[in-house]
Amino acid sequence: VSAPVVTTRAALDEWLADRRAGGASVGLVPTMGALHAGHLSLIRRAKADNDAVVTSVYVNPLQFGAGEDLSAYPRDLDRDRGLAGEAGTDVVFAPSVDEMWPEPSQTTVHVEGVSAPLEGRSRPGHFDGVATIVAKLFGLVGLCTAYFGEKDFQQLAVIKRFVQDLSLPVHVVGCPVVRDPDGLALSSRNAYLTDEERELAPRLYWALLAGRRVIEDERRTDPDAVVEAMTASLAEVPRFTLDYAAVVDPHDLVPPDTLTGDVRLLVAARLGRARLIDNIPATVPVPVAS
Ligand code: PAF
Repeated sequence: VSAPVVTTRAALDEWLADRRAGGASVGLVPTMGALHAGHLSLIRRAKADNDAVVTSVYVNPLQFGAGEDLSAYPRDLDRDRGLAGEAGTDVVFAPSVDEMWPEPSQTTVHVEGVSAPLEGRSRPGHFDGVATIVAKLFGLVGLCTAYFGEKDFQQLAVIKRFVQDLSLPVHVVGCPVVRDPDGLALSSRNAYLTDEERELAPRLYWALLAGRRVIEDERRTDPDAVVEAMTASLAEVPRFTLDYAAVVDPHDLVPPDTLTGDVRLLVAARLGRARLIDNIPATVPVPVAS
């Protein structure tokens, strides 16, 4: 069953007020549409945890840089509402840009620190756009639990940070990356890959696995060795242009001098028209006492 769609803030308010009058807890899954199995896993989790699930579908111009793929970004609301409904969405909120911003915003939500490295360096302004729209969605929906994929690991860290800093009444839940059987992380941007590029694309995940082996099998605690292993692995596929390979603390995304405990490995690279990102966790083995 296709989920019903509301396109105005007033209709969303009314829908939420009805549900809350009946005591319903609310789950929110913010998306830009082009739903794939990764999004559907977020919706299913939201439905398992909450009485009423809102999936927002809004291609947010604020988070696209000049020369990025805003106009090419895939849009198909009928398809999205069908998939969202089947996965357990109770209502799709699909506002127009004018409905979201009847007047241009004079406010930007900017998160220092955690926004700065990695994607922040490669896509200036991107996280301001994400944080501003997500804060706005949180304002529109109010008290809720919101679900985001770990695929955009830095985005998740940015969102958790402003929710904490601003004491917003939203519980933020990160959900594991969903992969195709060959390891490629699902992304709406995979649609930009040619058949040949699609075959090469899982090598990005292989690079992460190569980095994790250095930590977990070779038991190295030197971050440079991990970054070198990831870089060398990706260099085997000349069609990739590496943007960054990093190993960081999973909370503040700062690269440690020496690896300990839980860390996160992240990569970004261009393949043809697509810019792909991926990440995995790794845990530094506890030394065995001799
Ligand atoms: O991850 C996304 O799809 C977007 O960045 C989000 C969180 C929906 C904000 O536009």
